[in-house]
Formats: sequence, C-alpha cells, structure tokens
Amino acid sequence: MYVPERLLTNQDLEKLVETSDEWIVERTGIRERHIAAPDQASSDLALIACERALAMAKVDAKDVDQIILATTTPDRILPSCACTLQRKLGATKAAAYDMFAACTGFIFGLGTARALIGAGVADTVLVVGVETLSRIVDYTDRNTCVLFGDGAGAAVLQACEVGLGLHAVDMHSDGELGEVLEVPSGISRNPASEKTVHAKEHFIRMQGKKLFPFAVRSMEDATRKCLDQAGWSPADVDLFIPHQANLRIIDGVRERLGLPSEKVYVNIDRYGNTSSASIAIGLDELVRARRIRPGTKLAFAAFGGGATWGASTMTWTAAVPLAETDHLPAAAMKGAAS
Ligand code: ACO
Repeated sequence: MYVPERLLTNQDLEKLVETSDEWIVERTGIRERHIAAPDQASSDLALIACERALAMAKVDAKDVDQIILATTTPDRILPSCACTLQRKLGATKAAAYDMFAACTGFIFGLGTARALIGAGVADTVLVVGVETLSRIVDYTDRNTCVLFGDGAGAAVLQACEVGLGLHAVDMHSDGELGEVLEVPSGISRNPASEKTVHAKEHFIRMQGKKLFPFAVRSMEDATRKCLDQAGWSPADVDLFIPHQANLRIIDGVRERLGLPSEKVYVNIDRYGNTSSASIAIGLDELVRARRIRPGTKLAFAAFGGGATWGASTMTWTAAVPLAETDHLPAAAMKGAAS
C-alpha cells in the first residue's frame, strides 16, 4: 500500500464547508484522509504500492504478465494509467490495462486475474487499486468532500495449490443505478467546455441516501454467495475486509452476516473512502501486522459507482518476511494491530 503524506482532517474540512468533526465521525466514522501532492498523479501512487507488493512477493517487475489497474481517477484518458505504470515499473513483458469498476475495482481485478491464471493465459498478474479522488471532489460540496481520500494498494497473484488461494469471486453490475453516483461531464457524453467547468460537472455527484441500503444489501448478498462457494459459514471467516465507504455501512453488513467486530477490519477513520484502493490497503496492513498468515481465511466485499458490487473468499498462502513491515507509518501499524 501507499498513501500520500498530506493529511486532510475533519478540522481542516470545518474551515472549507459547513460541517463538524462530530457530524463526520458520527455519520461516517472518518477522522482524516490522505491527499496527493500537486505533482502526484495516480500512477505515482500506484508505482510505490506495486514496488512494495513486488518486493514482498519477491517477484521481478520484468516477470509480470499482466497489470490490471483498477481506478476511477487515471492520470489521463490516453494513455491508460496502467501503461504509464508499466513504463515506470519497467514491467516490459506485461499487458497493462485500466479497469473502471469504481470501488469494486480491486475485487473485479482479483476475479479477472484468477480467470487469467486459471485459463493458463498468465502466470503472474499484478492487481492494483489506486485513486486520487481529491482531484474529482468538489471541496465546496459537504455531501461528498468529507468522504473521499487518496491511496493505492497492490497484490501479486500467482497459481497456488488447489483448494487454497481464491475460492470464489462474485462480480455484479447494474447500470440502472448509474446516476446515483456520477461525474457528469468530461469525456464523450459532455466533453469538457467552459460551460461544464462552470457547472462543476467534472466533480463527483452522489445521492448518498439511495446508495446506503443498496451498499449493505449487495455486500451481504455477494459475501454469502462466496461463502457458499467456499463451503464456509460466516463463523469460518477469520477476517472480513469490507470496502471502507462508511462505518455505518460496514456495521450493517457485519450485523447481517453475524460477524463479531474483531473479525471485521476497519481503517476508514485514517483513510476515508479510497474507492478501488481500500480493500488492498486493508489487506496490506493486516499482512504486515501479522494478522494474516498462511492458512488465514479471508472474505472481501465491495460496492461502488456503476453500480458495481462483489465479494471474494480466499485462504491466504504467502509467507511474508518480517523486514517487510519496515516502511509502514507507525499509525498504520498501530491501527492494523488493534
Ligand atoms: N456535514 C454536516 N451535515 C451534512 C454533511 C456534512 N458533511 N453532509 C450532509 N449533511 C446534511 C445533509 O445536508 C442533511 O441535511 P438536511 O436534512 O437539512 O437536508 C443531513 O446532513 C442528513 O443527510 P443524510 O443524507 O440523511 O445523511 P446520511 O445519514 O444518509 O449520511 C452519507 C450521508 C454519509 C453520504 C451516507 O448517506 C452514506 O455514506 N452513503 C453512502 C455513500 C457512499 O458510500 N458513497 C461512495 C460510493 S463508492 C464509489 O464508487 C466512489
């Protein structure tokens, strides 16, 4: 994982819009988020997360067959963010492409990587979720600006023994819900113009209330499907890493699945909603904190714009050397260990 250094706290937001630390913490669980520096684009964040993932997996960038980069905020539309990342990484052999599945992007990436490896198309797939959402957030809109943060998380996938690794990946979309969460202009529907800029149509618009019940229901349904496919009951799960959109959504899913809170990972207080990066950031923190070891049974679930939603179950296989904990900020280790 990698998050930029600059912090945007609830107190900072109190100076920008009519809000309060109390409202934000009570309604979302968020206390602070990380914001990319002006010279940092998504590929820069992704590069650091990918270098760390490759070092942890002891895989050379030149041996990566495919790079799947999940994002809603690529550096540019052309070239793809994945191709820019490929150049920076020196992953010369890799086919690299962007995946637009909003907050479910990392799970869609896992599902695609699993299919590619299972079909013999690729041996090593690098899946990275990265966002610089601060670039498409309107910091005069209190409905959205308190929610989102920037960051990246990456994973290296290779084949493992049958019966271990990814047991199931459940992926869904419903385009009927498209307008609930959108950036109205910028590409082929409404190309950028003076009018679209003045109307603030290049920023996220969200109907948060409509998304809330859908998020809880869809994450529960997808998780249950993946549990069934793995032959597990909720009690078999050691750790559940949900997409971090709102603490109340996470609590709703936890209650419906009947999971105790110590099995549900929460770091939304420190990062906000980092969309496609959020599950991968949680995964990395837990691995480095030694809470995930070979044999740990994991479940992931996410929902996002599109709408998209999905889940996954896996039994972790990779051993991680102790030295790999070195680079993480103390706050991340503290949160991850608690
Ligand atoms: N500070 C203070 N008041 C606020 C703020 C704020 N930052 N934001 C909204 N309010 C106000 C509203 O204007 C409203 O006031 P009103 O009643 O006078 O109109 C009041 O608070 C209550 O608003 P609600 O919408 O009822 O608040 P709710 O409890 O639903 O929480 C929230 C809003 C946090 C957005 C919630 O609905 C939510 O988390 N929804 C899911 C959103 C989400 O996860 N989106 C990400 C999707 S992932 C992706 O793909 C990027």
